[in-house]
Amino acid sequence: MSNKIRVGVFGGGGAGHHHLEAFANMSEEVEIVGVAEINQTRGEQLVSEFGTTCYNSVDSLISAGLDLGVVALPHDQLLDCGLNLLNANCHLLMEKPMGNSLVEAKTLWAAYRDAGDLVCTVSFVHRYRTAFSKASELLQHGELGDIVSIHEHFRFPGDSRVPQWVWRHESSGGGVLLYSGIHNLDRILWFVGSHAASVTGIVGTHSHDVDVEDGVGALIQFENGCYATVVGNQPSSVVPSPFSRTEVYCRQGTIIVSNGTELTVVSNDGEVSTQNFEPVGHFEQQARNVVNAILNSESAFVTMEDGIEAYRIAEAVYESSRANKTINMSDV
Ligand SMILES: NC(=O)c1ccc[n+]([C@@H]2O[C@H](COP(=O)([O-])OP(=O)(O)OC[C@H]3O[C@@H](n4cnc5c(N)ncnc54)[C@H](O)[C@@H]3O)[C@@H](O)[C@H]2O)c1
Repeated sequence: MSNKIRVGVFGGGGAGHHHLEAFANMSEEVEIVGVAEINQTRGEQLVSEFGTTCYNSVDSLISAGLDLGVVALPHDQLLDCGLNLLNANCHLLMEKPMGNSLVEAKTLWAAYRDAGDLVCTVSFVHRYRTAFSKASELLQHGELGDIVSIHEHFRFPGDSRVPQWVWRHESSGGGVLLYSGIHNLDRILWFVGSHAASVTGIVGTHSHDVDVEDGVGALIQFENGCYATVVGNQPSSVVPSPFSRTEVYCRQGTIIVSNGTELTVVSNDGEVSTQNFEPVGHFEQQARNVVNAILNSESAFVTMEDGIEAYRIAEAVYESSRANKTINMSDV
């Protein structure tokens, strides 16, 4: 009998494919039982690429018997699939944002807490990029002093590379803030290490004919005195140079991460160092983290609470934009 962890991937689109690649590189520790994918053509491609089995429903893959479910479905299906997996006593690697509303995300969080010893994590996968983990280490060592402010900026294509369901509120619960920007919110929370006190935000639909936002701006004040900004958009127009940039200003120096791969550290005495890291491997690092957590009966690096905290800020951004006022986080 095999002692390998039996993994099932739910949804074989963009994110599901990354997860399959990651677990396929871990054949000593895991067995990929199959992928649940309703698009037959897509399913056949995945069967041919990964030599796995395609199931045409969530339930049929769960019935095949799993230890770990990886959920990479449209946002309106994350909660149901997650609850069914917890009911079947499966560990969970859940895609962000854990549901298509904060209420749904909290429902999943409550079910996880009731479930006892299961390992559950949220796929804030960019935390596993080397440039960001090195930035986090630097901040924790404290050589640059306390953080004063963090500024996150992204501009990604909003064309057919974004799945169509993202642009419908009914299926996504929100546009670029929940599909992309929630990673930035999570990163800010991770780096700052404090709770958000208040949020002022604005979301807008500027270039797409849709009912969710294609652009977002937010200002977050933290209980420890830091503040952070996020500005992001995914327009319908061509984006010739997509980018993401994270700037962390500390008392004794500055950290800049460009496109998740280039790390620049500038100290106040003028010393500058730049390192480039390969953009590959973060999905596999995440997969290894959840598998090790299961094997060692410990928590995964990213917790369900982290997922809720990032979603609470996103919710406050929407509410601030709707009400045209600053939102006190104790009200969210
Ligand atoms: N962590 C990341 O970096 C990252 C990147 C992209 C997307 N995501 C997240 O991953 C999730 C999926 O996003 P995506 O971009 O991969 O979307 P996608 O549309 O590319 O993939 C979803 C797949 O699920 C399939 N599907 C839909 N309903 C199904 C059902 N009932 N049963 C089986 N298959 C079904 C679709 O056919 C599609 O192939 C979302 O939560 C999204 O926010 C995360």
